[in-house]
Amino acid sequence: MNISREKIVSHTADPYPAWPPGQRYGAAIEPGGLIDLPAARAWFRRLDQAREAGLYTFALPLAGQSGRPTAYGDRDLISFSTYGYLALNGHPKIVGAVHDAVDRFGSTTGGVRLLTGTTELHRQTESALAAWLGTDDTVLYNSGYDANLAAISSLFGQADVAFVDERAHRSLLDGCQLAGVRVRRFRHGDAEHLDELLAEHRAHRGRKVVIVDGVYSMDGDQASLKELVNLKARYGAFLLVDESHALGVLGTGGRGTCAEQRVDIQEIDIITSSLAKAFPSVGGLVAGSNPLTTYLRHRSAPFMFSSASAPANTAAILATLDVLVSEPEHLERLHRNSAELSELVRRVIGTPHEVASPIVPVILGDEARAYTWARILLDDGIYASAVPAPAVPAGQSRLRLCATAAHTSQDFALLEDGLRHCLALESAPEQLLSFMQDVTPPPLATTSGDVVAGYEAAA
Ligand SMILES: Cc1ncc(COP(=O)(O)O)c(C=O)c1O
Repeated sequence: MNISREKIVSHTADPYPAWPPGQRYGAAIEPGGLIDLPAARAWFRRLDQAREAGLYTFALPLAGQSGRPTAYGDRDLISFSTYGYLALNGHPKIVGAVHDAVDRFGSTTGGVRLLTGTTELHRQTESALAAWLGTDDTVLYNSGYDANLAAISSLFGQADVAFVDERAHRSLLDGCQLAGVRVRRFRHGDAEHLDELLAEHRAHRGRKVVIVDGVYSMDGDQASLKELVNLKARYGAFLLVDESHALGVLGTGGRGTCAEQRVDIQEIDIITSSLAKAFPSVGGLVAGSNPLTTYLRHRSAPFMFSSASAPANTAAILATLDVLVSEPEHLERLHRNSAELSELVRRVIGTPHEVASPIVPVILGDEARAYTWARILLDDGIYASAVPAPAVPAGQSRLRLCATAAHTSQDFALLEDGLRHCLALESAPEQLLSFMQDVTPPPLATTSGDVVAGYEAAA
């Protein structure tokens, strides 16, 4: 597969057409202006470095469905970083349900959930999700991000302490910030450290909540729920588990980390999840007891101050539940492919990886190295996300690879060749240089020497 180089070279150098071609972003920061911020300077410097080297592979405007097969311009790509684990995007039953929902309810809900935005479809989907998960009820939100903000900020406040795994998703931390709750981070997956922190706060008079991801999005490992359930019981804490990368993926019928680890879901006080990963939709949920869900419907801001999720998205969620039950083959294929991806990475890169989910990181360390690998793979027809800090710890930049139910043996062979290509170019510096010369766009222009000098000095 030979992806059109010029198009990729052009995106990796000038991804945002509103900017004059070749302009250095940092040069446009006006001293004292709106974007004259340390964070903006730092980001623009990173962006300019990546663009100048032809390594900006982010936000490729795809020409087709996002999923295992996708397209950029008129070229096909095989994605090894999509969140669509079950490869259900475009599934005829789900697309059919979306069409029916649009025919019946139209394109919008015309209001927030508490007022005029709740349709029968929303309630039916919430009940079906709850019956599937084994909780009293669920509340739908527009995204997993909203669900986390809603749950944490409605339940906890300044008098309380949140014990958060250091690799927990950003939306969980943002929820804590919105709540004003005091945050203590514990070392990733380290129950002993959590135990120590909880013990330090034994006499704390406010409420305590332990917050984890069921599956960690950048590492692919699972939280150890039994240990967490024991700890929360011992210290009188509550437990929130974000199941975004586990629902549809782990456990019997894809019911998530509790089902996988044989933990009664009733032991978890608050379950949250995105419905935009294995579920081919956009949305999020909070699942739990009737008192919890009823309270959230009357207290959580995203339920009352943000428009209800579109009928199309809601119908896609409901139809996915049906597909999960009636077509278990997707999950079976996903599990086989997860094992195959893990074995491939072990064979080629040499890093052992315990298969706990479809997510298999290739940790490369240096940010530039991760960008370079993503760029080489893109030229080879593989779309793989480079993930730098702060999304992962500094010095642990990586490719975040993941398997889907739809990957084929040819896809794995393509990926294996691509990863070997990266290794081969790295071990032959002159070949890497010539590859980079081939893909490196013209140098970026500066618009004002003074501004650039200020920008460089401050960065
Ligand atoms: C663990 C986790 N929680 C929450 C979210 C946010 O979900 P959404 O994309 O539906 O807002 C994500 C998204 O990447 C996630 O990985």
